[in-house]
Amino acid sequence: MELPEMNKYDKVAKTDYEIYPLLSQRYSPRVFKDKKITAEELHQLFEAVRWSASSNNIQPWRFILTKKGSKAFNNVVDCLSEFNQKWVKNAPVLVLCGYKKTVDKVKENFHALHDLGLCLGNMTIQAQSMDIALHHMAGLDWQKAHEVFKVPDDFHIATALAIGYYGGDITALPEDLQKQELAKRERKPQSEFVFKDSWK
Ligand SMILES: Cc1cc2nc3c(=O)[nH]c(=O)nc-3n(C[C@H](O)[C@H](O)[C@H](O)COP(=O)(O)O)c2cc1C
Repeated sequence: MELPEMNKYDKVAKTDYEIYPLLSQRYSPRVFKDKKITAEELHQLFEAVRWSASSNNIQPWRFILTKKGSKAFNNVVDCLSEFNQKWVKNAPVLVLCGYKKTVDKVKENFHALHDLGLCLGNMTIQAQSMDIALHHMAGLDWQKAHEVFKVPDDFHIATALAIGYYGGDITALPEDLQKQELAKRERKPQSEFVFKDSWK
């Protein structure tokens, strides 16, 4: 079977209702085009983060940005799960994503993880408008990441993020992941998660 070069229209969601194209075109690839992301483009992505909403405007998100070829990039790879290590070096940029756990060092900021997710959602859409894909990863040894990157106690590394241009040669992936890359996308129907007027 001849395998295709991926592009951003390969996995457009078959939505039940019309949604904004940047949302239906977004997906989480495991191969990326062999093209660097410039410093300016990275600033654009983090500017979308910067202007995100957050509880009390605390802006609890923090990131460690690394580029392929650096020691720090390899250190992020070492902190990832075996599964993620199978594909993640295809990305030109890896980021550790964390949040500040408290307000004024004493009161827990219960909404910090919410705000991290929200700002990354905004980054996703900014990236999509630039043909750039994000792939979030929970498969990460966060304790190791804290140790290796000397993360202060008041912060928690929640996820890692691969960033790269859509595209790339799917044969760069091991066979099982090639299948996943081409698999049909599935979602629950709205009726399973939107309850009208009361719980179920
Ligand atoms: C918080 C979070 C953690 C994830 N962790 C991983 C991961 O460790 N490895 C991976 O390959 N994909 C990971 N994913 C990607 C999901 O598997 C993917 O978003 C989901 O299957 C839906 O596919 P789509 O993003 O292409 O629509 C993660 C996504 C999110 C939002």
